[in-house]
Amino acid sequence: MKYTKSFIRFIFWKFWLLRAWTRARVLKNDQDESVSIFANVFLNTIRKKLSIEDKIWVNNIESMRKEFKRDYSEVIVTDYGAGSPNLNRTDSQMHIGQVLSTTVSSMNSSSQSPFWSLLLYKIISQFKPKTALELGTNLGISAAYQGAALTIYSSGKLISMEGSASLIEKSRKHFTYLGLINIETVEGRFSDNLSKVLEDHHPIDYVFIDGHHNQDALVNYFNTILPHLSNKSIIIIDDITWSKGMKLAWKKINNNENIKLIFNLNKLGVCFIDKDNKVQQRKIKL
Ligand SMILES: C[S@@+](CC[C@H](N)C(=O)[O-])C[C@H]1O[C@@H](n2cnc3c(N)ncnc32)[C@H](O)[C@@H]1O
Repeated sequence: MKYTKSFIRFIFWKFWLLRAWTRARVLKNDQDESVSIFANVFLNTIRKKLSIEDKIWVNNIESMRKEFKRDYSEVIVTDYGAGSPNLNRTDSQMHIGQVLSTTVSSMNSSSQSPFWSLLLYKIISQFKPKTALELGTNLGISAAYQGAALTIYSSGKLISMEGSASLIEKSRKHFTYLGLINIETVEGRFSDNLSKVLEDHHPIDYVFIDGHHNQDALVNYFNTILPHLSNKSIIIIDDITWSKGMKLAWKKINNNENIKLIFNLNKLGVCFIDKDNKVQQRKIKL
């Protein structure tokens, strides 16, 4: 049963990738420069087009991922998120947090896959944000990708937020091991720390929201972050089709007039903010 499910997921993924690749190939000749640039970023992610320096970083981070996968040591985490779509945790359960005994290997399965991590890396390489923010560090895989791209391409910094103290401790060790000195981690619930982080690092050029997949929480984080975003900035949201609530939150966020270009990648949603430009919003589904 487990293998059938993985097989169906694999087929679905390959089908989606092929369709997205076909669409991106058309979009790379689009008259709108932002659209053609993003289409190229996406195609280069599929092709794994990397410089020697990129390859070194990617290989180092992927070696770290392999170690996590083999690491069955216990880790106690406090999860302030929604868990899984069918758990229907209440606001108070999420606020208190669920203490779980798990393994590093199991936590590793919540990390962004090599493909999505590389897409984040490529987006940063292309758009060169100076100040980036991540909600949801976990073991630090996506943070390492983003931190590496910020190091090479924009001399920028990443602030990564995480509720679980044990995960923060582990990710900090990994960043030190990889030599990523431009990643600052902030421990605690997003709701407790977000406003202070935004004030301290204003303006923010790039945000990746990868934690707390709850409808009201997500809309709330978006609205809190928006005034602190640079006039031209990028906000990426993970798991936009994960649950009914996430789909509704994504729909609500899409209505914001400051977002001028939206790429719906089925899993990730990428929003290009342009606060000064009055052009009509364009939505693209890959
Ligand atoms: C999907 S994982 C992040 C994966 C990571 N970005 C990666 O790809 O390597 C989500 C993380 O967000 C954290 N989280 C969820 N809800 C939170 C909240 N309300 N406050 C703080 N952390 C939260 C969880 O503890 C978990 O580690």
